[in-house]
Amino acid sequence: MEVVVLPSYQEMSKAAAQVIAGVLNEKPNAVLGMATGSTPLGVYQELVKMHKAGELDFHQVTTFNLDEYVGLPKSNSQSYHYFMHENFFKHVNIAPDNIYIPSGTTKNYRAFCAWYEKRIEECGGIDVQILGIGSDGHIAFNEPGSSLSSRTRLKTLAEPTIQDNARFFDRKEDVPIYAITMGVGTILEARTLVLLANGKNKANAVAQMVEGPVTSMITASALQLHPSAKVFLDEDAAGQLKMREYYDWVMKKKPGAPQT
Ligand code: PGA
Repeated sequence: MEVVVLPSYQEMSKAAAQVIAGVLNEKPNAVLGMATGSTPLGVYQELVKMHKAGELDFHQVTTFNLDEYVGLPKSNSQSYHYFMHENFFKHVNIAPDNIYIPSGTTKNYRAFCAWYEKRIEECGGIDVQILGIGSDGHIAFNEPGSSLSSRTRLKTLAEPTIQDNARFFDRKEDVPIYAITMGVGTILEARTLVLLANGKNKANAVAQMVEGPVTSMITASALQLHPSAKVFLDEDAAGQLKMREYYDWVMKKKPGAPQT
């Protein structure tokens, strides 16, 4: 796992956007894994900026989102369909047919999840997956106890997640209890993982993800099993890392390292 600590949210977002841009420059028809929530907003803003400056072209790109609330129609302002459209898709030249987001309103969740997994495979797999982390250590909606080999499926949200996400809704009771989410196993198959975290309320989950044991109780710890996982943090989110000095040393020495 590569751990990069940057002084601000904006710099962290820029660095992560550079990784995505690098993948797109090498492979203009790349498959991107998208995330929602407050954390990736800065990355989307950076990517949109690059697109408007003529530096990034999305017309051959395909995207798969991590998750969606069950029961919210696409038009609901709290749905992840709505979020993605408002914060990213409507600002770039992506083909609408190349956008995949789990359905929160399908009549048959089991069949939908199997189809979603198949579409990812048919599109060649995800080249780079953007991730946030929950205060309970989840990635996507893989709550504590989720199998580390889980696939796309329906999940019941944990209380801390409902509490965290209540800030986006009028009342806590309005937060959906169920979601459809890619599994940890699905996420681990992406070729590169880019996880971002900012703020003090993520510091404990981040420390457990990076330095704790691999455990289904902190599903983000599965990133330790991935050959190309990059973690971008601001100072607050990095606040509980014991090996902080080493991560900084590695990044400082990286330019001089032998090319592999
Ligand atoms: P946040 O959510 O970006 O809104 O903090 C992250 C997550 O729950 O994965």
